[in-house]
Formats: sequence, structure tokens, C-alpha cells
Amino acid sequence: MKLNRRELIAASASTGALMGLGLGTSFAANSKLITRAIPASGENLPVIGIGTNRWVADGSAAEIDGLRSTLRTFNELGGRVIDTAPAYRTSEKALGVLISELGIRDAFFLATKVDRAGTEEGIARMRDSLTKLGTEQLDLMQVHNMRDADNQLETMFDWKDKGLLRYVGITTSRVDQFAEMERLMNAFPLDFIQVNYSLGEPQAAERILPTAIDRKTAVLVNRPFGRGRLFKKVADVSLPAWAAGFDCSSWAQYMLKYVVAHPAVTCAIPGMTKAKHVEDNMSAGHGRLPDSAQRKQQEELFASL
Ligand SMILES: NC(=O)c1ccc[n+]([C@@H]2O[C@H](COP(=O)([O-])OP(=O)(O)OC[C@H]3O[C@@H](n4cnc5c(N)ncnc54)[C@H](OP(=O)(O)O)[C@@H]3O)[C@@H](O)[C@H]2O)c1
Repeated sequence: MKLNRRELIAASASTGALMGLGLGTSFAANSKLITRAIPASGENLPVIGIGTNRWVADGSAAEIDGLRSTLRTFNELGGRVIDTAPAYRTSEKALGVLISELGIRDAFFLATKVDRAGTEEGIARMRDSLTKLGTEQLDLMQVHNMRDADNQLETMFDWKDKGLLRYVGITTSRVDQFAEMERLMNAFPLDFIQVNYSLGEPQAAERILPTAIDRKTAVLVNRPFGRGRLFKKVADVSLPAWAAGFDCSSWAQYMLKYVVAHPAVTCAIPGMTKAKHVEDNMSAGHGRLPDSAQRKQQEELFASL
């Protein structure tokens, strides 16, 4: 098998990161990033992406250097899906500058959001995202927290027909919005939904994830670490030895593998501003995933903490 330059860099970088995390050489060398198909198209995406709601760069060189190294590491380890939003302050602008500087737009699947009520307001917001991100086409546009969704989706499907967007979706991170999400999933031919799902907030598995399977809708998972709060729960707890049974060597991988092992999930988008977190989290996209008995064991351990 011949690898192109990018694949070679990704393979060697992944191997280095995995070895750094204590996983064996043979496992790392033989390991490929797990991908899932978008049901609407069959296009494959790696199961670990990146969320950028803390990508604040107000101009200090140190801030932007840290984000550059985070983005470069994500790219070198084969990451593709980047989730941002105009509501995330400087996130879209910082991404636009760094992607153009690194010259790697084609490597990424760029997802952003629209969060305005009213047709003209939504169009202006989406135009601004294209400008800030420095691209003529976005891979995924999502209605942020489903605000004015029926109206915004009409414009978004029109933009998709015109080739300005590749996929259309809706987002929430609140359980009390799940009923509305389910209504929209049944009312529109959505390509994607984005929803909160984690060991701390498993409610999406009740109706939202099964509906996504039925409706052939791709699923991005936000807040896989409960905004980072799940790490507090495990701060003084050792990773159980049985986690090695699904090639897991850190708590972050334990939480991510739980999420992406659900059959409805296309990609988890953990928020990351540090390259060391990218290295840790991308390793969750390699090796074995927990089966249903192991996922139950993961839930039971978490419930006992
Ligand atoms: N309604 C919506 O549409 C909506 C709502 C919420 C979130 N989102 C999207 O979902 C993404 C993820 O959600 P989130 O960022 O709120 O929460 P999250 O992914 O559950 O947690 C992010 C936190 O975990 C930390 N972290 C990441 N990897 C780690 C590791 N390996 N070890 C230790 N700590 C680690 C991050 O630290 P560092 O920053 O220091 O790396 C950050 O503080 C967002 O960035 C955003 O793109 C969408």
C-alpha cells in the first residue's frame, strides 16, 4: 500500500502520539483512524473532530501560537471535522486566519452555525461566516440551538442547492430542547444533527439517537466531557485495567470511546485548545471500541463515582 505525503505524516504522527501515551508500537503501527459514513452521501469522516467554542484569540502572540499548534497537531493526526460558530467570539476569525496561513482548507470539514431570527438576518450572518472562515463553501451549516429553525432551514436548503453549503443541520446542547429537535428531525430532510451526549448526560440515547438512525441523519456529539466537568469526577480515580480491553489509556479516551461506540454517532467534537489534548483525544479514534457489555460496564463505573 502506498501512502501520499499527508497520509504518511498522519500515520507517523499518530504512531508517535500513541506511543507517547503508552500504547504499544505494533498497535500504533497497525492502527487506522476509525471513520463513519455520512448517511446522506456515504462520505467518510473520522470519529473524532474538534470543537472551538473556547478559541479566543484577542491578538496576543502566545494565544494564537497555542491555537496554531493545536490546529496543526489536529491536522497531522488526521483530524477533519472542525465545529465553530459566530457566537464563539473570535473562533471563526482565528480559524480563518490559521487555515489560510497553513494552506490546509481542503483537509478540513468546516461546520459553523447560524443564530439569527429572520431571513435577511440569517443570510447576513452566514455571509459573514464565509468571509471570516475565508472559504466560498462551507461543509456544514447548522441552526444554532434551533433558533428560528423552520425559517433558517428554508434558506439553508436553498444555499445547499446553490452549492454554497454541502450539508445542513441543527444543534442543541440542552435536554429540554430534545422534543423540538425530534420534531424538526421528522419534519425536514436534515443531513446532520448536533447534540450533547456523554457518560454524564446520556439522555440523547433515549429518542434522539434512535431517531437519527431511522431518519438516516449524521450525528455530531458536543460536550462529550460535559464541558470538562466529567474530569472532576475522575480526578482521584485510577483508570480501570479492563479499559485496556478497548485500547483505552486515559479518562478522555474512556469518555470519547463510550460516545463514538454508539452506532448512531458519526463524530464527537471535544472542545480543545491545547495540542496535548488533541494528541490524547485523537487516540480515541484508534483501536477497538467498547462493545455493548463494555459500555454498560463504563456506565456502571461512572454511576458509582
Ligand atoms: N448548542 C451548540 O451548538 C453547542 C453547545 C455546546 C458546545 N458545542 C460545540 O461542542 C464542542 C464541545 O463542547 P465543550 O467544548 O463545551 O465541552 P467538552 O468538549 O465536553 O469539554 C471541553 C473541555 O475539556 C477539556 N479537554 C479536552 N480534552 C481534554 C483531555 N484530553 N484531557 C483533559 N481535558 C480535556 C478542554 O480543555 P482545553 O480547552 O484546555 O483543551 C475543555 O476545557 C464546543 O467546542 C462547540 O464546538 C455546541
